[in-house]
Amino acid sequence: MVTVIGPNGAGKSTTLNALMGLLPCRGTVRFDGVDLAGLELEERVMLGVALVPEKRELFGTMPVEDNLVLGGYRAMKLRVPNWKSELERVYELFPRLKERRGQLAGTLSGGERQMLAVGRALMSRPKLLMLDEPSLGLAPLVVRDIFTTIDKLRTAGVSILLVEQNARAALEVADYGYVLETGEIGLHGPARELAGDARVIETYLGAARSSAAAA
Ligand SMILES: Nc1ncnc2c1ncn2[C@@H]1O[C@H](COP(=O)(O)OP(=O)(O)OP(=O)(O)O)[C@@H](O)[C@H]1O
Ligand SMILES: [Mg+2]
Repeated sequence: MVTVIGPNGAGKSTTLNALMGLLPCRGTVRFDGVDLAGLELEERVMLGVALVPEKRELFGTMPVEDNLVLGGYRAMKLRVPNWKSELERVYELFPRLKERRGQLAGTLSGGERQMLAVGRALMSRPKLLMLDEPSLGLAPLVVRDIFTTIDKLRTAGVSILLVEQNARAALEVADYGYVLETGEIGLHGPARELAGDARVIETYLGAARSSAAAA
């Protein structure tokens, strides 16, 4: 699990969108030995790359379950046997979604929408799951649940690229981290080392601590 942290406007979402093929980019992007240059979004999905975008982009006028089934497109297309059983795995991970399977996605709460966005990405059985600020706008308890879920996925063998404002939580779960500042990599290293780096503490962790104290 790799995390990218950095201030607003650093280019974190831009990086993920470029990796997914939503934005053009220069340089090389290699995934699992394959050069992704020139591959469309759908082709990247078929190779096992999935993105939970910052704006979530759910189908608001469709029920929860239909949103999940649409996420299973890759598995269906690859004729993965029992791809529908993935639905049960997602419901196990997020029982709340099972309770609300018939509810329109547009009427879900912020935390539930987040669960649905992650669940939908998992339906494609990705090898690499990219998460853009999964803790955004969520209550601390829900954030803890989301991070526990992310940790479970890592244990299950999914590679994760995590973009977060919540640097403390991100560096706690990740193996390796990058600090992005105005489009450039400022620092990088094992997450544990970054969490102990004076510059990171002062700029990212110290601020988180004082705002937590203020709240
Ligand atoms: N299409 C665009 N046209 C002009 N500027 C853009 C465009 N897309 C992104 N930007 C700018 O590029 C910078 C990086 O944006 P990006 O969304 O990647 O930031 P971020 O690191 O994800 O920030 P945040 O933590 O606020 O989500 C921002 O200053 C943004 O305003
Ligand atoms: Mg962003």
